[in-house]
Amino acid sequence: MSQAESLFHAIPLAPPDPILGVTDAFNADTNPKKVNLGVGVYQDGQGRIPVLRSVREAEKRWFETENSKAYLPIDGLPAYRTGVQNLLFGTDHAVVKGGQVVTAQVLGGTGGLRMGADFLKRFAPASSEVFLSSPTWENHRAVFEAAGFKVNEYAYYDPETRGLAFGKMVASLRAMPKSSIVLLHACCHNPTGVDLDAGQWQELTGIFREQNLIPFLDLAYQGFAEGLDADAFAVRAFADAGIPMVISSSFSKSFSLYRERVGAVTLVTANADEAKRATSQLKRVIRSSYSNPSSHGAQVVALILTDAELRKAWELELGEMRERILRMRTLFVEKLAAKQAARDFSFVRKQRGMFSYSGLELPRVQRLRTEFGIYVVDSGRMCVAAMNEGNLDYITDSIAKVL
Ligand code: LMR
Repeated sequence: MSQAESLFHAIPLAPPDPILGVTDAFNADTNPKKVNLGVGVYQDGQGRIPVLRSVREAEKRWFETENSKAYLPIDGLPAYRTGVQNLLFGTDHAVVKGGQVVTAQVLGGTGGLRMGADFLKRFAPASSEVFLSSPTWENHRAVFEAAGFKVNEYAYYDPETRGLAFGKMVASLRAMPKSSIVLLHACCHNPTGVDLDAGQWQELTGIFREQNLIPFLDLAYQGFAEGLDADAFAVRAFADAGIPMVISSSFSKSFSLYRERVGAVTLVTANADEAKRATSQLKRVIRSSYSNPSSHGAQVVALILTDAELRKAWELELGEMRERILRMRTLFVEKLAAKQAARDFSFVRKQRGMFSYSGLELPRVQRLRTEFGIYVVDSGRMCVAAMNEGNLDYITDSIAKVL
C-alpha cells in the first residue's frame, strides 16, 4: 500500500503527554542517578511504590473468597459506593440520609472527571462553560474539552507571594456567567500545593449560591493534607450549604492503587427523587462509555473501608505517607539552605499534598533533565512524594547548580 492510500496517512504526530510523557523520557534515560519527580506517585523511603500492608491483606482475603467473575453493576459495587459516600460526607450527613447523593464507581479520578463532564454536558444548561484554576492539572482541560465544553480559567495562584490569589479568585467567580461549571481542587491543589482555608471555602459557598455556579470538586488526595475528615472540608461545606455539585474521587494515591483505577463520581442532588432520575442517567453515560467498571481495586477498597481492623491499618499507613512527605519538604528546604542555593525555598514547607510548584523556569527544568537526569514537569512542578533520604542530596545539589 502506498502511503497516500492509507486511511491514516495524514495523521499528525501528537505531542507527548505533559506528565506521563515525562515518565517515558525518564524510563529511556540511562543515567544511573536519574530521579523521576514528574508524575504524582508516592514512593516510600526506599524509592518503592508500595503495596500497602492493608491492601495486601485485603487482597489475600478477597482472593480466598471471590467466587464469581460476573459483571459488576453499571454503577459499581454497592459497598464501595457507600464507603465513598462515608469518606466524603462522614457517616450521618443529612444529604446522605436524605437519599440525595448518587455515587458511581468509575475508572480512577480521571474517570470520575470524564463521567461527571459527560453527565453535565447532557444535563447542565446548554450555555454552561467550564472554568479551571490557573494553573491546574494538565489533563483537566483535555478531559472537559473532550466532553465538548468550552474551557476557561479563573485566577488562583499568585507567583509573587507563591500563595493563593484569593481576591482575584473571588473577582473571577463573580464575573462568571450564571450556571458556569467551576472545577475546584478540594485539597492538595495540583500543581501548586496551595489550598483555600476553611473561612475561604465558606466564603466561596456564598458566592456560588449568589452566582448560581456549579461546583465540580476534584478530590484526588483525600488524607494527604491533614487527614480524611479535614480534607473533605470543602465537600462538606458545599453540601451543608445545600448546593448541588459533582465530585470526582480518586483512590490511586490514598490506597497506592494507581494501576487498579479505583475512583468514583458523586452527584449531590436536591432530593431523593432527583437522585433516582440522576442515577438512571449517570448509568446511561457510563454504559455508553465502558459499560461497567472493573472489580479488583474496588473490592479491596470496600473491604478495607468496612472492616474495622483493615480500616485502622490503612489509616495508619495513610498517616505514614502524609508524615513522610512533610519530612521530605522540611529536609529539601534545609538542604537547599545549607548549600546556599541562590533562592529561598522555604515556601515548599507551606505547600500541601504530593507536589511542590518549585518556581523553576523551563530552561532550568530542561538542564535538570539533560545534565542531571532529574525529571520534573515543564511547569516546574516536582513530586515531593518521590524524594527520600537517599536521593535528596543529589536533587538539591543539582538544583543549586542550575540556579
Ligand atoms: C499527576 O498529576 O501526576 C497524577 O495525577 C498522575 C496523572 O495521571 O497525571
